[in-house]
Amino acid sequence: MIGAGNVGATTVQRLAELELGDIVMTDVVEGMPQGKALDLMQAGAIKGYDTTILGTNNYSDIADSDLVIITAGIARKPGMSREDLIKTNSRIVGEVSQNIAKYAPKAVVIIVTNPLDIITYVAMKATGFESKRVFGMSGVLDAGRFATFIAEELKCSRKNVQAMVIGGHGDLMVPLPQYTTVSGIPLQDLLPEETISRLVKRTVNGGAEIVDLLKQGSAFYAPSSAIVAMAEAIIKDTKSVHPACAYLDGQYGQEGIYFGVPVKLGAAGVEEIIELKLNQEQNDILRKSSESIRKIISQIEI
Ligand code: APR
Repeated sequence: MIGAGNVGATTVQRLAELELGDIVMTDVVEGMPQGKALDLMQAGAIKGYDTTILGTNNYSDIADSDLVIITAGIARKPGMSREDLIKTNSRIVGEVSQNIAKYAPKAVVIIVTNPLDIITYVAMKATGFESKRVFGMSGVLDAGRFATFIAEELKCSRKNVQAMVIGGHGDLMVPLPQYTTVSGIPLQDLLPEETISRLVKRTVNGGAEIVDLLKQGSAFYAPSSAIVAMAEAIIKDTKSVHPACAYLDGQYGQEGIYFGVPVKLGAAGVEEIIELKLNQEQNDILRKSSESIRKIISQIEI
């Protein structure tokens, strides 16, 4: 785990509890990953897990990792433009990626740092890894948010809702009601169109709603759960289907950019991209989304 902040450390806690493998957690802040690792190991004595967690400030400690998750970066501060954030996080993740290539050249890499669609591209270029081994976490989180709002509306179990969200991670995400079901029942048979579109809007604004409530920082409980779902698919080679920020090579009419699409995840990373039929409005948003991503990546230096 690169970056031991809110998302990084919470993900490590969840992974440790599942005993999926030994964990190394690194950060630029001295002592912090070491302190959190020690605390998490002591939690294991009480909670009952034997996962080894090493906290460190040295990249060399990630040597030969099977899976690397990047949550390192800074959040947008007041007065900071989106471009400034892109510049800073591209620099951080660019440096992190070079170290991954050096010390863990066979790893599958999951990117979490925002703005996700851009930073995942930076990581793929900077590691030099094949694109199926570098992808981002976005859709699992966004689908989790959509599912929560649907369950709340229907007063049913969240566990029954299977939601699908694709597109960019932000304003241009595309929740897909026609591929969302409740125990196999199409969502559109259960809720009127106006209600669905209200829930879609709330999903698109889902991250911002939490930022506004927290006043500082952003969500980390649901993001860490989403990362673990993807990590588990890779570590256990389950071939389970999740939306992920994946490199498109012609799929959805796009080439050379990353954005959210359903994929099959296994030990090799993104093992297949699944193409869905979309309606006109959804296609339009996807096109807008891809244009804005393409414009930004053509301007950044890697
Ligand atoms: N190498 C390692 N860690 C770094 C580096 C670096 N070069 N630069 C910054 N960090 C660390 C910070 O020290 C901090 O501990 O990254 C951590 C980020 O943690 P938080 O600020 O708590 O942010 P968090 O809420 O965890 O979000 C991390 O995930 O969801 C996204 O938008 C979010 O981009 C953000 C990322």
